[in-house]
Amino acid sequence: MSPETPSPREPRRHLALALDVPDESAALDLAGELAEYFSLVKVGFELFVAAGPPVVRALVAEGFAVFLDLKLHDIPNTVRNGAARAAALGVTYLTAHVAGGGAMLEAAVAGFASESALEGAGILGVTVLTSDKEATPALLVERAELAATSGCAGLVCAGGDLALLPPAAGRLVKVVPGVRLPGSSADDQARTATPSSALAAGGDILVIGRTVTKAQDRRAAAAAVAASLAGI
Ligand code: C5P
Repeated sequence: MSPETPSPREPRRHLALALDVPDESAALDLAGELAEYFSLVKVGFELFVAAGPPVVRALVAEGFAVFLDLKLHDIPNTVRNGAARAAALGVTYLTAHVAGGGAMLEAAVAGFASESALEGAGILGVTVLTSDKEATPALLVERAELAATSGCAGLVCAGGDLALLPPAAGRLVKVVPGVRLPGSSADDQARTATPSSALAAGGDILVIGRTVTKAQDRRAAAAAVAASLAGI
């Protein structure tokens, strides 16, 4: 499970599995069941509130690269210290809302760096939520630039936003949630993209949640996502 730069020939390296489940054993079961398809596992708000740092440590101990999606947005001092504690758990990525501002993002980056020993690890700046229908392209560009100038390792945006990113975002890892297999329900996501369109548009890491985890046959759905990326 490595956070190395993704290669177009290996779909797995572009895929993060959203472990949106309510307890540690469900998280470990889901991660294990689909490990061959995913290079990252994402621990979000629900799982972290339910199972906390022990589930992150357990996933790291099992060899998973962990993406901790807590979408920090607080005063810089609080964010710096929280980001340091997250990095000390061994996570590869930690999310922070770009809306929190440059000083907050710089604090997140500094706090994370103070405790992280993983190459390529860092803060992902959440630009505009994929559930947000109202945000303007100008806001996306402004937030992408702020993520870059604040030292983020990457940014999170909708698949449809990738084409609008400014040159400053070029060096950042682009992470795309709201991914749906063709014909799959959008659920509460307003701005979805298929895996192949998100990858072709320049996405580096695709967050895969309900389109696989709520499928009748999860392994078949994961295999379909992987197959749809082959050759891109
Ligand atoms: O199930 P679904 O594919 O909608 O899951 C998307 C996952 O990505 C969820 O865990 C959600 O919290 C996360 N996410 C998102 N939009 C963002 C950032 C993260 O949907 N901008």
